[in-house]
Amino acid sequence: MGAAVFFDPHPPVGAALCAQTGGTGPVFSDLDGLRAHLERMSDEDTLVLGPDLDDREAFDVAHLARSHRPGVDLILVRREITTTLLQEALRTRMSAVVDHRDTLQLRAEVKRSLNRAPQRETPADPAPAPAARRGRVLTVFSAKGGSGKTVLAVNLAAVLADRGHRKVCILDLDLAFGDVAIAMQLFPAHTIADAVPLGGEIDSSAVAAMLTQHSAGLSAIVAPTEPGTAESIRPQLISHLLDVLREEFDYVVVDTPPAFDDQVMAALDVSDLITLVVTPDVPALKTLKITVETLIELGYPRDRLRLVLNRSDSRVGISHAEVEKTAVMPLSGLIPSSRDVPSSVNRGVPLVQDDPGHPVSLGIAQFAQDEVIGAGLAGGRRRPPRRRRFRR
Ligand SMILES: Nc1ncnc2c1ncn2[C@@H]1O[C@H](COP(=O)(O)OP(=O)(O)OP(=O)(O)O)[C@@H](O)[C@H]1O
Ligand SMILES: [Mg+2]
Repeated sequence: MGAAVFFDPHPPVGAALCAQTGGTGPVFSDLDGLRAHLERMSDEDTLVLGPDLDDREAFDVAHLARSHRPGVDLILVRREITTTLLQEALRTRMSAVVDHRDTLQLRAEVKRSLNRAPQRETPADPAPAPAARRGRVLTVFSAKGGSGKTVLAVNLAAVLADRGHRKVCILDLDLAFGDVAIAMQLFPAHTIADAVPLGGEIDSSAVAAMLTQHSAGLSAIVAPTEPGTAESIRPQLISHLLDVLREEFDYVVVDTPPAFDDQVMAALDVSDLITLVVTPDVPALKTLKITVETLIELGYPRDRLRLVLNRSDSRVGISHAEVEKTAVMPLSGLIPSSRDVPSSVNRGVPLVQDDPGHPVSLGIAQFAQDEVIGAGLAGGRRRPPRRRRFRR
């Protein structure tokens, strides 16, 4: 017979669920602990997902658990049960959805699950779980201006689109001074500001109307052109927009302003990967140190952060080791300096498309391959930060 495992971000809630079912645990409140335990779990075990995970997180954890243990039974405890939730639970083959007040049902479901016949495990999944279909959100960030965020974001998006082999959208969140449109020579008829009047009603057709096509597989949602529009774009709109975009695209690359504003935080919250760009100079390193510490303090897991050194060949007496030591993380990508970078920006053609063999293009392509395509970005995603809001 298998064992019941409980997961809820709040330890007392997880412990209470465990006690209600007469179980002995284990109870986990953080994803790293659960992930380590998944390696030791058997297909006969049952994982109970607590009410304090939001729906999306619960389905992500369910997907993670299934990717380790395809036969594990999943029971979802919810404070609110909606039709949409039940449909999603059905699609992801949850074995039960239980109202958090219904102790008796939870107890019965756990008992039934643990007594199930072991041979009904490891069914081939007929349709990919929704979480597997969801695109990845990759945010490029640096709190220092001019470090190369836009250059990296635009070229990363172009590399990932791979001439139409993948669907990629670049979203310009530098709402006041965004220059993605310039770097890609776009003449947008629409901008992200078009989402404001829609409120929460953004769906795939509304998103389609906001997109500007660049090249095969690569589209953009550009920053507003009217001054003063930035304030009307609320953080909730960004989260919602990214949710819809990840259903439509394989990758959504987010370019950001050099500031921790609320819109950036909304993007960071839902990002699968946060790529920090730094240049080898003392002020940039100082900013980087504070940025990493801030992100960790805010609860972003280190395994979601990547570090890219731009102008990596500058001979300014700062070694790669020094950069890594300052950030307390390894370098995942190196982009050399080249005057071809500003000239590609001025021409409005991403260098990776114009000259894929260029050392700058190779550096960006290598990063994309190692950290995005090759890594598959499995696991470790979307653990909610402890504090969600932060002002500079
Ligand atoms: N590897 C490089 N070699 C040479 N020039 C570069 C390189 N990377 C970026 N640049 C140039 O540095 C300037 C700043 O780059 P970019 O606009 O990408 O920075 P940013 O971080 O997006 O800036 P901001 O914070 O203002 O949005 C641009 O003129 C760009 O062409
Ligand atoms: Mg920029």
